[in-house]
Amino acid sequence: MKDKTQTTERVDALLAKMSIEEKVAQLNQIGGADWNNGPKPEEVIRKSGAGSVLWLNDTKRFNELQKIAIEESPSGIPILFALDVIHGYRTIFPVPLGMAASWDPNVAEKAQTVAAKEARAAGIHWTFGPMLDIARDARWGRIVEGAGEDPNLGSAMAAAQVRGFQGADEIDTEHVLACAKHFAGYGAADGGRDYDPVFLSEAQLRNVYFPPFKAAVDAGVGTFMSAYMDLNNVPASGNRWLLKDVLRDEWGFEGFVISDAFGVANLAVQGFAKDRKDATLRSLQAGQHMDMASSAYLENLAELVQDGLLSVEEIDEMVRPILETKVRMGLFEKPYVDEGLLEKVIALPEHREAARMAAQRSMVLLRNEGSLLPLSKTQKKVAVIGPLADSMTATEGSWMVFGHQPAAVTVLEGIRNKLPEAEIVYAPGPEIRRDIPHPFGEFDTIARKPVQTPEEAEAAFQTAVKAAQEADVVIAVMGETQDMAGEFASRGSLDLPGRQEELLKAVDALGKPIVLVLLGGRPLSINWAAEHVPAILEAWEPGTEGGNAVADILFGDVNPGGKLPVTFPRSGNHAPLYYARTLTHMPEDHERYLSRYWDGPTTPLYPFGYGLSYTNFEIKNLKLSASEIKVGETLTVTAEVSNTGNHAGDEVVQLYIHQKWGSDSRPLRELKGFERISIQAGETKQVSFQLGPDELRYWSTSAQGWIQDVAEFDVWVGSDSQATLHAGFEVVA
Ligand code: BGC
Repeated sequence: MKDKTQTTERVDALLAKMSIEEKVAQLNQIGGADWNNGPKPEEVIRKSGAGSVLWLNDTKRFNELQKIAIEESPSGIPILFALDVIHGYRTIFPVPLGMAASWDPNVAEKAQTVAAKEARAAGIHWTFGPMLDIARDARWGRIVEGAGEDPNLGSAMAAAQVRGFQGADEIDTEHVLACAKHFAGYGAADGGRDYDPVFLSEAQLRNVYFPPFKAAVDAGVGTFMSAYMDLNNVPASGNRWLLKDVLRDEWGFEGFVISDAFGVANLAVQGFAKDRKDATLRSLQAGQHMDMASSAYLENLAELVQDGLLSVEEIDEMVRPILETKVRMGLFEKPYVDEGLLEKVIALPEHREAARMAAQRSMVLLRNEGSLLPLSKTQKKVAVIGPLADSMTATEGSWMVFGHQPAAVTVLEGIRNKLPEAEIVYAPGPEIRRDIPHPFGEFDTIARKPVQTPEEAEAAFQTAVKAAQEADVVIAVMGETQDMAGEFASRGSLDLPGRQEELLKAVDALGKPIVLVLLGGRPLSINWAAEHVPAILEAWEPGTEGGNAVADILFGDVNPGGKLPVTFPRSGNHAPLYYARTLTHMPEDHERYLSRYWDGPTTPLYPFGYGLSYTNFEIKNLKLSASEIKVGETLTVTAEVSNTGNHAGDEVVQLYIHQKWGSDSRPLRELKGFERISIQAGETKQVSFQLGPDELRYWSTSAQGWIQDVAEFDVWVGSDSQATLHAGFEVVA
């Protein structure tokens, strides 16, 4: 680790020589893409340098711009090159929601280690990940980018991703600087509509939405990104309470904060700041170090100092952590990247192996009536239908790095690889599309294709039914295309888009065995399929090796063990729906309670934590080390898990608690521990969890602070959030 005082001295020396313009330049991130209007990056850099450049993915150009910064800009300070590397650079891993479904932080850590190594070899120093927004509303498109609805699982995935991106200690040349985003509350957008305002109480923020961010700080994350939206009427990009009081003063974060794209200038658009100058002043004073792409800092900061509205010391304080980061990452010693390195790094076979394993571990078996799965490999004739069966983009998923060429093994290809002898008939059926095109649709080859006419769609439908009729087994690959989840990709309904369900029904009427493989980045309300299609595998957007991983599971080479990191509602109208609600005066088990709606059940289609296996597990012998503990003490919870079936498999053992009364009402269940364990057929293993002050305290609205109550608690250990194996204990004074 670089000595802290040495770094400080070096930064002091740099600051002492820098003009105000050079300092301001360090607080600016230049949008390097062609479509980003504004002065050419080289001109800006030559004049005063740049803190960072984003939206460029070109190794040669990185070196060219770096050379200008070092040799021609007055301060000679190297640039940090930034890009969104969310779930892989060239080797694509499952989308973050999928990785969370592995309930295995090692999967996320390994994935981001590989992503970091490839990205760094391409010349990227800094990624805008991990995305840590808790999302409880499946309509919100960006649910795909995070770890789902739960703060405990979300925190484990947050820390793992930070470790993967940044490495163990200082960020070396095989790792990248990470960025915890979007701070904070973005996932709770009103109605699940992207960017809409968020209203969250301090208790909800501190108990639910902040924990993954706090976990990232504790894991040493180097940077934070503020969110776009209004949080309780104060936009996150100008929210001093978030960026200073909580992040720096309480949590001790010493890195730097960047706005979201154009977030500084947008404070004026959002009806918060008077104009770009006011936006600049209020954003910087709120604790925003770097302006992403809006140029508002570049235009206004020096003038604000001249006007006496900001002091040079305030500017220095903001520049300091940026320069410290550059010093500690060794950019001054090694500013350039070897232009031949990337091709060697991406060829490493372990990258694809890791991607395949991550995909296998992320998949969730939702249904398997009559043990239809695994299928035998001696199939003679298989129909592979559905609009996503041979879609590379749907397999790789949302958030590809700029300029990425799709290169995934599709499900169709994976099945062909697995069954070289079988006859495989492929018929996609009618295409699916967004009703309102994606704003970046012009960059997407599929979105640019002419829309299928109703006649073409009908012909495709009939061809798919015919293919199914002639086959021994039908594998339907359906769900959402890559542009249906992500940013600008919220929707009101959670149904299978287009005519997919209709096609499933037509195939079901033929009496053929059907397996439904779901691709997509959010929970879908597949109510009909959940009752009629015997086998359903949620494969998410599984990445480069996704098709092989699906085939590994369908044909029994791998036993699925993933679990849902989000509740699957029966309808988009039921969102937000999550397991950790508080009780009501008429709880679900009340004799007169039937449903919260009169037009159908409000229970989840699949609960949080749910997932099946090809084997059976039994969880028993739940024991607590004490039935009573004092405030501040810890007890141990143990249970036994037996594999009572015929296959080796993984079970994710989950621990939930409920505090029965207290200063505030507490959620009827809260996840407080989990462990994914592999168990041989016939074998029994023990799991153990600790419940101490960290697990039992919470931020209380009544007390306006963190407290641990004296109260009784329920404990459940089991295989999902509806576990019934129960015990209880009491916390006394
Ligand atoms: C997104 C961020 C992303 C940034 C830079 C924004 O539109 O909200 O998540 O990091 O763009 O690409």
